[in-house]
Amino acid sequence: MSEQKKILITRQLPDAVTDRARASYAATVNAADDPYDAEAMLARCDGVDGLLCTITNDLGRDVIMALPDSVRIIATFSVGYEHIDLAAARQRGIVVTNTPGVLTDATADIALLLMLGAARRVGEGARMIRDGWTGWTPTQLMGIEVSGKRLGIVGMGDIGRAVATRARAFGMEIHYHNRSRLDGAIEHGAVFHETLESLLPVSDFLSLHCPLTSETRHLLNEQRIALLPPRPVVVNTARGPVVDDQALIAALKSGRVAAAGLDVFEGEPNIAAGYLDCPTAFLLPHLGSATLETRNAMGFTALDNMDVFFAGKEPPNRIA
Ligand code: DGY
Repeated sequence: MSEQKKILITRQLPDAVTDRARASYAATVNAADDPYDAEAMLARCDGVDGLLCTITNDLGRDVIMALPDSVRIIATFSVGYEHIDLAAARQRGIVVTNTPGVLTDATADIALLLMLGAARRVGEGARMIRDGWTGWTPTQLMGIEVSGKRLGIVGMGDIGRAVATRARAFGMEIHYHNRSRLDGAIEHGAVFHETLESLLPVSDFLSLHCPLTSETRHLLNEQRIALLPPRPVVVNTARGPVVDDQALIAALKSGRVAAAGLDVFEGEPNIAAGYLDCPTAFLLPHLGSATLETRNAMGFTALDNMDVFFAGKEPPNRIA
């Protein structure tokens, strides 16, 4: 019988995923569940054949170049992969895979939750209950109606389209900007905008679903916020740095933006201080994919990719 491959799992994963990993591999799991820094990660990679990493691991060029030759595959427990330098991985001949598809619904659900939560002032309402609610009044915490509003979606991939499906059920009119126009069959009447500058003025609600790249960093900045209609609601379940925090905080504080629902933050877990004392910022701790079903599916997808790779075949979700 051939010797089991060694894999390093860099965070605690759901039990079912860890059990499966241990059944197939000599798996070392980060029992302390702290996000390894580069030094801690490299110290554990000797003789390791595969890394099962997460978005909390910085696998930039320096780390990839310093990995031992034994490491042949990095399977990230995420759809996003901006934490991995793919060019460096290619240069080292290390295969990289991600987990597309399996977190689409869970993330789209959170986008809708943020849209509703921000528009209907759920954060303020929940605090009011705990701080001592004095009773219903006709003008208490009046929010913004979702039905009948225009939703602008930036990035019409799997998650953007799943958000559109849900938003249609709320009676919203869907507009989107994407690198290319969708096929009529999956556009379902959504209005394509070739430029962001065309999409923003019709976005009573704006939901971000683009990957983080050098082009999308601070995509929503002061100039673009100025193009939105009066008192819009902004939602971000993509990546924190897609938004220029200082510009959004200023717009929330001045009332130019009515409310924001944010699940992701630049430099998370640190959060720009201005959001924390802003009642119209409805904030969640990166919960997009956080259901047991989805987190299991993400882990199983990462392991499927490793299994296929170590069987000498092309892993289905290869990105480098
Ligand atoms: C991802 O998969 O990229 C998410 O942000 C983690 O849930």
